[in-house]
Amino acid sequence: MENNTNIPKYIPPPSFDLPDRQWPSRTVTRSPIWCSVDLRDGNQALPNPLLPDQKLEYFLMLCNIGFKHIEVSFPSASQDDFDFVRRLIEENHIPDDVYIMTLTQCRSHLVERTFESIAGLPRGIVHLYAATSDLHMEEVFGLSRAETIEMVADSIGLSRRLADDMPDSDIRLEFSPEEFTATDLDFAVEVCETAVETWGYATVDKPMILNLPATVERRPPNHYADMIELFIRKFSSPEKVIISLHSHNDQGMAIASTELALLAGAQRVEGTLFGHGERTGNVDLVTLACNLHSRGVDTGLDFSSLSRIAEASVRLTGMPIPARQPYSGEYVFTAFSGSHQDAIRKGMAQLDKSAERFGIGWAVPYLHVDPADLGRKYESLIRINSQSGKGGVAWVLEQDYGIEAPKAMHPEIGRAVQRFSEEVKREITSSEVHEIFNDEFVNPEGPYELMGYWPRPDDDDPTQIHGEVRMKVRGEESTIIADGNGPVSAFVHCMQKLGAPHFAVDDYHEQAVGKGANATALAYVPLEFDDGKVLFGVGSDTNIDQAAVRAIVAGLNRHAKDE
Ligand code: KIV
Ligand code: ZN
Repeated sequence: MENNTNIPKYIPPPSFDLPDRQWPSRTVTRSPIWCSVDLRDGNQALPNPLLPDQKLEYFLMLCNIGFKHIEVSFPSASQDDFDFVRRLIEENHIPDDVYIMTLTQCRSHLVERTFESIAGLPRGIVHLYAATSDLHMEEVFGLSRAETIEMVADSIGLSRRLADDMPDSDIRLEFSPEEFTATDLDFAVEVCETAVETWGYATVDKPMILNLPATVERRPPNHYADMIELFIRKFSSPEKVIISLHSHNDQGMAIASTELALLAGAQRVEGTLFGHGERTGNVDLVTLACNLHSRGVDTGLDFSSLSRIAEASVRLTGMPIPARQPYSGEYVFTAFSGSHQDAIRKGMAQLDKSAERFGIGWAVPYLHVDPADLGRKYESLIRINSQSGKGGVAWVLEQDYGIEAPKAMHPEIGRAVQRFSEEVKREITSSEVHEIFNDEFVNPEGPYELMGYWPRPDDDDPTQIHGEVRMKVRGEESTIIADGNGPVSAFVHCMQKLGAPHFAVDDYHEQAVGKGANATALAYVPLEFDDGKVLFGVGSDTNIDQAAVRAIVAGLNRHAKDE
């Protein structure tokens, strides 16, 4: 092939001649079989591999999530790995519907040791692999293609005899042509035909697994899909095998590669939780499964407590999960920008309507999946920084503290919170937002301190209220009496008599917080001053009139502070 790119060191991998490719117009509607390779591929790449008890805890977690195929070790590679398989079998840790899998290279003594480790196993998968790319075969092992085929046939023949010696066990075989995506496709088919033929037990009911790995991600995702579609077309008995994928993430496209290769007809996926594994890791099964879940595919994997799984993974592996890792990262359901916060708030408030309108159960701007599906909470949806808008702040107060401030008040609250976050130059917490709200609107410092208010209906005309206010102004107490056509207007008249700046109260908003005997009233009162300025005060009391007058005092104190 002619290289017409301009960095001579590299050439683009050749694409495939497949003009009638089918995968681009397909949709994944069924879940693949999931195989976790956390305890082998993932574990062998950890700076500190798991200790036996940690491995057992991880294994049980994988079972609880719902994995039915779990690669647990490379028993011929280390005594620890061998012992772990023995422990699972002898201590009866393997659920009845779970197939544990053990990996070995195609070498006789290693195959024998692997079968030794699984003695007494009721059901399981023995996984043999051999490198099939020319680069690997020639440079690493000094083998020709013919010698590789012979080695694979020998090892699988031996596996068959050893499996025959375990008549009470359901032993399945998996074969991987390592570096499949760098292997000549016809040769990969030839090796796999040999593997299936030599095993001789593959049937529709008991299929053999052909795992076709992107051991190193050297190609774009569409190439992997083409290779899988072509492999299935070329293979003589695809109905007797399960085509499995195993993607590494060297170019950051393992998820895309796996998704496209599923469209191409693969039925099984190997990978790890959070993408642990050699170099850039294996495909992240959490992201992949949650992607399918978000498109309505029942994956059979339970990630409804994803934070707990993430916490266990970090604790056991010592590997952090980036804050923006899809689904599991800390910031995944957090909107920082005001316009996003506002849109999410509106979307959440209209979920019923939008579900009806768009015909799906979840339609919220900026959130493609319901955080509750993953055990995440709406409360943490919005965090506040200096870029946050008024909508986000109002949302936090409403969700976390039940404060339903009227819309007209949102800009004032937003400004107060923004002032604070600009001052501290960092993201601020929900409880800080609450504190700002209380300090600014409920208990602002100022000259007025209400000692008590006694409104009393007139003896002859109950619509007339006589109000008596005891108030400290800059520490000096006085009592004022005035009338009005309601408790609030009588209080306003008292305050004018006391010499407070002139203001009017047109309309105000009230709300009950809590239920029954413990309920309190919150009053949000806009004070309109003669200079046209409108300032809200907020008051809280078990009695709604008392809450309103407290709100007026708060508004007057805010005005004094402004002056
Ligand atoms: O990445 C790979 O090719 C492997 C094989 C052993 C399947 O891990
Ligand atoms: Zn691998």
